[in-house]
Amino acid sequence: MASKKLPKLRMGDLEVEVPIIQGGMGVGISLSGLSSAVANAGGIGIIAAAGIGMFEPDQFTHFKEANKRALGKEIRKAKSLTDGVIGVNIMMAHSDFDDLVMCAVDEGADVVLMGAGLPTKLPGALPLDNLDSVKTKFIPIVSSARAAKIIFRSWAKLYNHIPDAVVLEGPMAGGHLGFKKEQIDDPDFVLEKLLPGVVAEVKIFEDKFDKKVPVIAAGGIFTGADIKKVMDLGASGVQMGTRFVVTHESDASPEFKQAYIDSKKEDLIIIDSPVGLPGRALNGSFLKRISSGIKEKFTCPWKCLRTCDFKHVPYCIALSLTNAKRGDLENGYAFAGANAYRVDKLVSVGELIDELDAEYGEACSS
Ligand SMILES: Cc1cc2nc3c(=O)[nH]c(=O)nc-3n(C[C@H](O)[C@H](O)[C@H](O)COP(=O)(O)O)c2cc1C
Repeated sequence: MASKKLPKLRMGDLEVEVPIIQGGMGVGISLSGLSSAVANAGGIGIIAAAGIGMFEPDQFTHFKEANKRALGKEIRKAKSLTDGVIGVNIMMAHSDFDDLVMCAVDEGADVVLMGAGLPTKLPGALPLDNLDSVKTKFIPIVSSARAAKIIFRSWAKLYNHIPDAVVLEGPMAGGHLGFKKEQIDDPDFVLEKLLPGVVAEVKIFEDKFDKKVPVIAAGGIFTGADIKKVMDLGASGVQMGTRFVVTHESDASPEFKQAYIDSKKEDLIIIDSPVGLPGRALNGSFLKRISSGIKEKFTCPWKCLRTCDFKHVPYCIALSLTNAKRGDLENGYAFAGANAYRVDKLVSVGELIDELDAEYGEACSS
């Protein structure tokens, strides 16, 4: 691998060549294909656990087993394709959150990111009195300094241990957002404003535990200059989703990728997701149908998300995101970050990382 201008990212004994985490993207957008390509390019490749069992034949009858089996398969496949760093993104809202975390740890995932909720507690099956003995690094995703404080305080008290890193995801991200709708466009909640507060909060715990805890910035990072900007504010790395969707190696269908390329700024909208959070997505015929009041027919065999009010929601999110992943955008929709409209061509993951590295270098010397 050619030497990079971007600095390395260190998390305890884990050294990462390029300080870029590819954000976990369910349903089926970041699996072994994308994650292994990112890991091979020196970053951290993330498999999203959300809806991962939707592609197994027994998804409707044995959903927990299907999820675990599919996650195990994807981790093993990714690891067979790279010697780089592979992790898993698991949303707190999953009704089988604990099982999925244990599956990731047992399969030897290097990192586990926990989002869409406050992970104040870890699964009881972990060695909670000696978390340092676990090889997997645990990384909560937060949207405020307050959330970071609650999680760090809880882990410090319960486990005498703090997270290995933390991702701050701002309101320009794609997918579910940890903000109230009215905060999303409020200038007081932009990533650059939130970041110093999180860095300061984490520093208090770093000092107490004599442990370096990198803060990773996410949401709207598009260029190497954006990476430089957040690093100047105290971030040690970035998490990026949208740009990795439109790569040859991404696990999305060609139609999903093309929808990004064809999108315009006004197509990126905020929806009320059945998960109970706002989400950013690409508008299309499916979402237009839903916003006109039409309810999709579906049966919910298992309630995959704890927070889903499945008797009243107008559609099944797992099903509609599965349709989109497969390329059926008439019966599903694509989550996307606020900058998706700026993507204009398919590139390889290696080309993207090289471009970001060159831009970062330019920003450093200007
Ligand atoms: C298609 C798509 C699916 C996503 N799915 C998840 C997910 O399953 N879990 C999660 O924590 N974040 C999810 N995200 C958020 C990303 O991991 C990432 O943090 C975010 O998109 C970063 O902002 P960016 O897209 O502007 O780079 C998703 C984002 C996109 C675009």
